[in-house]
Amino acid sequence: MDLEQFAALRTPEGSAALDAAARVAGGDPLTAAAALRSAGVPAGLAAAALTQAELRLRATGKFGPAARGMFLTRAGLEQATRGVVARRRAERLRAAGVATLADLGCGLGADALAAARAGIRVYGVEADPLTAAMAAANAEAAGLADLFTVEIGDATAFDVTRVDGVFCDPARRKAGTGRRIFDPSAYSPPWDFVTGLAERVPHTVVKVAPGLDHALIPAGAEAEWVSVDGDLVEAALWCGALAQVPRRATLLREKEGPVAGAEARAFPLTGSGDAEAPVGRPRRFLYDPDPAVVRAHLVAELAGDLDATLADPSIAYLYGDEARPTPFARCLEITDVLPFSLKRLRALLRERRVGRVEILKRGSALEPEKLRRDLKLAGGEAASLVLTRVAGAPTVLICRPVPA
Ligand SMILES: C[S@@+](CC[C@H](N)C(=O)[O-])C[C@H]1O[C@@H](n2cnc3c(N)ncnc32)[C@H](O)[C@@H]1O
Repeated sequence: MDLEQFAALRTPEGSAALDAAARVAGGDPLTAAAALRSAGVPAGLAAAALTQAELRLRATGKFGPAARGMFLTRAGLEQATRGVVARRRAERLRAAGVATLADLGCGLGADALAAARAGIRVYGVEADPLTAAMAAANAEAAGLADLFTVEIGDATAFDVTRVDGVFCDPARRKAGTGRRIFDPSAYSPPWDFVTGLAERVPHTVVKVAPGLDHALIPAGAEAEWVSVDGDLVEAALWCGALAQVPRRATLLREKEGPVAGAEARAFPLTGSGDAEAPVGRPRRFLYDPDPAVVRAHLVAELAGDLDATLADPSIAYLYGDEARPTPFARCLEITDVLPFSLKRLRALLRERRVGRVEILKRGSALEPEKLRRDLKLAGGEAASLVLTRVAGAPTVLICRPVPA
């Protein structure tokens, strides 16, 4: 989409085309296009409206019903922060006293809109003119145009003395190809600028990829890893006055909220990120920590809470004598600990009539799907197989779930 097509969507005719597209989107694209044409929508406008309608459907998982009124690009949607994560960040900024915020590289405005909804005055800066125009339209559609304004420009030129907080979510995909950038020095705005913000603005938050190397965390910053329903979604660096602890894992449970539509439940785990968990033999129960806990290097803190131990110092499975309820790890009961041998494992599973297995692994090079085929399972029973190492030796643990 270009700016001209976007402008056409913003006319009354475009708005009617968007409404018509919303009614037919999600099905067969040819039938949808024919339906719009027969309703008298010009071909170019119909294509643009259908693309928006499809993107809005896809965005519902990220933004909920608010997605229905948003303007989106494919790349902008992929990079946008999930609603639940943006809302929590906005609440934390507001609670820290941030009243005015610059969003440097605001994209389609997912974070900025959440901050504005929390009552923060947001100044968005966006280099791409179409994305900036859509962000402004999104502010208007949400009734937040007074609180979230967008200027087209280079974020590095923004006068940060105008605000008391700064948020930056640098682009981690190459413009044009959309390929992921893994090296922070290739982020845009550049990493040096982004991390330098903390020295200029006392309330600075930077969103980063969850794979961020801990060595890149600025001294004194709090690094937070966030997962939603067990999926690791992002990391954020809370700098200056916003830093509360060295490391934090925040687990958000969106699917199992107490009431449908209610805000997700949040479970925080904090610590230094450099503690070491004790190592021992496998015990009766295995805990598989949430990826946010593992990435935040908080396995030792979790081990302390659960009175659990590792079986290998470099593998993040924990073992305990009791199945303690915890939101931070999945718990399985171990029935067998075997040195890995395909033949032996196959024979044992046959004997127990195990026909279905889930396969978990940490510290094993085995390919779960190949193993599943090689096991040639048959029978009505189910089991969980954990491929790992115990004191350096390839090991398989046969497990069963612990009722929640
Ligand atoms: C990861 S996206 C932001 C997504 C946003 N936080 C959201 O949730 O919707 C990064 C954005 O920064 C913009 N950008 C990259 N470099 C920039 C720069 N130097 N100045 C302004 N914007 C920039 C990109 O065009 C992109 O839209």
